[in-house]
Amino acid sequence: MIARLIQSRRITARDTLYEFDCPELARKAAPGQFVELALGEGEGEGSFLRRPISIFDCDGERRFFLLVRTVGRGTQAMTGWKPGREVDVLGPLGNGFSWPESAGVCVLVGGGIGLAPLTYLARRLLETGWTVRLLFSPRREDELLDALPQREKLEIRCAENRTQLPVILEEMLAQADCVFACGPEGMLETVAVKTMQRDIPCQLSMERHMACGIGICLGCAIAVRTPEGLTYQKVCKDGPVFRAEEVSFHEQP
Ligand SMILES: Cc1cc2nc3c(=O)[nH]c(=O)nc-3n(C[C@H](O)[C@H](O)[C@H](O)COP(=O)(O)OP(=O)(O)OC[C@H]3O[C@@H](n4cnc5c(N)ncnc54)[C@H](O)[C@@H]3O)c2cc1C
Ligand code: FES
Repeated sequence: MIARLIQSRRITARDTLYEFDCPELARKAAPGQFVELALGEGEGEGSFLRRPISIFDCDGERRFFLLVRTVGRGTQAMTGWKPGREVDVLGPLGNGFSWPESAGVCVLVGGGIGLAPLTYLARRLLETGWTVRLLFSPRREDELLDALPQREKLEIRCAENRTQLPVILEEMLAQADCVFACGPEGMLETVAVKTMQRDIPCQLSMERHMACGIGICLGCAIAVRTPEGLTYQKVCKDGPVFRAEEVSFHEQP
């Protein structure tokens, strides 16, 4: 389908927020899902491969938003996209987050650009009466929080470094009914271990290099524990969201 770029806004030196118009996608998108964006010809290495990007926010009717970090030639080319540009988009893809119907307190843990899939989730949780607490580990760019549309409604704490994160997390878990996290895998493992120790349901949004994005190429395998033993699943189709106890961090392909 085609999404039309409405506007883009620089959030940090390397992060840009893009707003697209695409009712077909916006009506269907759920928190934790992602899109596969087609680049223009010659826009980056392997420009024929689509780029997977999480749905950062969505109005449920027309507009969706992506928060994109410039890391390579494809995401660099995107920063030159002008309003009105029509982009070929596949999505919404993946399973997305799920949460109990009865509202409580949830903790979102975002590491760097891992903030992206948690924002739309926060919107939906707030709409359904949840108290949403965010633990953000920015590394360098705490201005990334400026991209949050409902910042004033969230209770936000920032971990300044890697040693602070587990300490603050412990404090926040003392009053948490469920946890959602996205970010570097070391951070996700810490979150998984600590939530499992306390028996708090936790979902992790995982990332793998992707090609097809729709379960055909087997390029995004992840090792997952099942009652039958270790198996491999596809991050693009079975994920990107997995339960913390499913992810086998030390047995990845
Ligand atoms: C489910 C999912 C959601 C994502 N959501 C976001 C998001 O919201 N914001 C954001 O900034 N980034 C996100 N990423 C990472 C993003 O896809 C890559 O940073 C991007 O594809 C890099 O493209 P490039 O051309 O700039 O980099 P290059 O390094 O030039 O890319 C070359 C190839 O590697 C692939 N690739 C490179 N890095 C990654 C990566 N980390 N994950 C997957 N494929 C990669 C590219 O798709 C491309 O095929 C997500 C990745 C996944 C799997
Ligand atoms: S990216 Fe092709 S199977 Fe997941």
